[in-house]
Formats: sequence, C-alpha cells, structure tokens
Amino acid sequence: MTLSRTETQARILGGYDDASRLRQVHDRDWVLGRVTGEPEVLVDLGSGIGQLLEAALERLPSLRLAVGLERSEHRIAEATERLRPAGARVVLHRADLTAPAPLPHRADVVTMTSVLHWLYPVEHRVLEWVRTHLRPDGAFLLTTYHPYADRHGLGGEDDIVRDALADLGVPRQTVPGLLGDHGVLPIATRTRPVPELALLLEEFFQIEEYWEREAVVTVRDAAQYEHFHAATFGDYYAAALPARDRAGFYRAVGRAAWNRQQEHGRVSAMPVRLWKLTPRGAGGA
Ligand SMILES: C[S@@+](CC[C@H](N)C(=O)[O-])C[C@H]1O[C@@H](n2cnc3c(N)ncnc32)[C@H](O)[C@@H]1O
Repeated sequence: MTLSRTETQARILGGYDDASRLRQVHDRDWVLGRVTGEPEVLVDLGSGIGQLLEAALERLPSLRLAVGLERSEHRIAEATERLRPAGARVVLHRADLTAPAPLPHRADVVTMTSVLHWLYPVEHRVLEWVRTHLRPDGAFLLTTYHPYADRHGLGGEDDIVRDALADLGVPRQTVPGLLGDHGVLPIATRTRPVPELALLLEEFFQIEEYWEREAVVTVRDAAQYEHFHAATFGDYYAAALPARDRAGFYRAVGRAAWNRQQEHGRVSAMPVRLWKLTPRGAGGA
C-alpha cells in the first residue's frame, strides 16, 4: 500500500524544524534565558533535532560539552547534521528516557522541554537519572504542558483528535474506548496536574522557582496543522485506526484544527510551566 505524504512524515516524525515554530520552539529561549553562571556541560533530554543544543552552544561560550539524549533515530540523524559545525563540543546518544542508562557526564545544566508527558507513568526514572548526573550546584530546567483534562482524561491534542474522529463518523462518546483499546493513553492523562507533579519533583529536587506562560497555537490553514500533528505526534493516535483510514485521519485533524481556528481565533491554548530545580540537599534544602 502506498503511503500518503503525511503518513510517511508521521512515521519518521519529519518536518519538526518547521512545525515546532507553532509551539515548542518558544521553550528554547525561555529556558536558556534562565541559565546562570558559566556552565561547562549541558545535557538536553529528548533533544529532538538539536535546536536547543544549537542555541545553547551559540549563547553560552563557556560550554565545552553539549550532550543530547533522544529516542528517535531520525531525529538523532537530523540533529547530527545540524550540530556538525560544533564538532567535539557535541555528543548525541540514542536513549530511551523511560529506562535511561548511566553516562559518564556530570552536568552543570540539564534541560528537558516538552518531553516529560511521554515518560508517564515512570517519570521517576528520568528524575533519578537527572539527580545522579547533575553537579551539586547544577540546575535542572524543565518545561511541562498542562492541558485541561475532561472526565475521560482527554484534553489538548486529544480533543482535536476526537473532533477529527467524529468528522470521520466515529461516535464522540466511543473515542476514549477506541483509544484505550489500542493502548493510546490520552496526552492529557500523560500530563500530571501541577500539584501532583510538584510532589513528584520534590522527591528528587528542590523547586527553586517556576514561571508560567500560555502556549497559543494558531495556523494559516488546515494543511499547516496536519503537518504539525504528524511532526509532533507522529502516528501515536493514527495507530488506533486501520491503515486504510490513516491518511484521511490526518486530513481530518487538519480540518478540526482549522474549524477551531475559525471559531475561536486559535487552535489551542494551554498553560506551560518552566521549573527551575536543584538537587535535594543543595543550597541548604
Ligand atoms: C515534542 S518533542 C520535543 C523536542 C525538543 N525537546 C523540543 O522542545 O523541541 C518530544 C521529543 O521527545 C522524544 N522522546 C519521546 N519519548 C522518549 C523517550 N522515551 N526517550 C527519549 N526520547 C523520547 C521524542 O522523540 C521527541 O524528539
């Protein structure tokens, strides 16, 4: 069976450089703006196509080593190309952050932007890894997204997916069951509410400070959101459908987003929190 362009894109999480301008890229300067001192080693977890590492190398001349850990081989390949000019200042590791292996680096700064929800419900493993790999005076800068969740645990992107499935004739009330039957955990369920997350973080770190912003996504047309969805979520949701329906599903996601844009002047808006964390025991904690 021939795959549509979006299906091919979703399989390799392609097009992220362009798509991430809609939402995730704003985390990059927000996070790097909170780095203090003259760090020598920075580790970025879920480093994607290397955008944060590239900006860190530019902004922080003290950095002698920028390390990225990432699961997707396609993203590692794209990051390798992007970061080639930095030579030996960059090391990329293919890693699954739900079971992160020890590395010989001790970091002054660890960053993780827009990744933690993918590690649910075993986030404690990466938090322990960070605590172990951070210098006692180091900082962990973490961004977390907090879509509103309904009584089924659906919200944010799940809502757009529900609209798209309804457009394809799937009764709305059956969508939570359809996702559940295929092992697709709603993203709004993967994202722990702020109070619950704060308790979890405090098992490992001192919460030094936090900041919040609203991530608002707007698009110029349906195709732009179809592209964003495939680049960001890949075939995570589409895998719940038979192969023959997937190309149509991606198009329906684009239409659902465009309908929201026309109705509300934006596709979505959700709070994002930036946490500045230090290892427990440091700084008098
Ligand atoms: C939304 S992207 C964020 C990328 C980048 N940090 C940014 O802010 O643009 C989530 C990234 O986490 C990676 N990821 C998801 N689950 C992972 C896991 N278990 N181990 C390592 N990386 C993972 C994905 O491949 C993807 O690159």
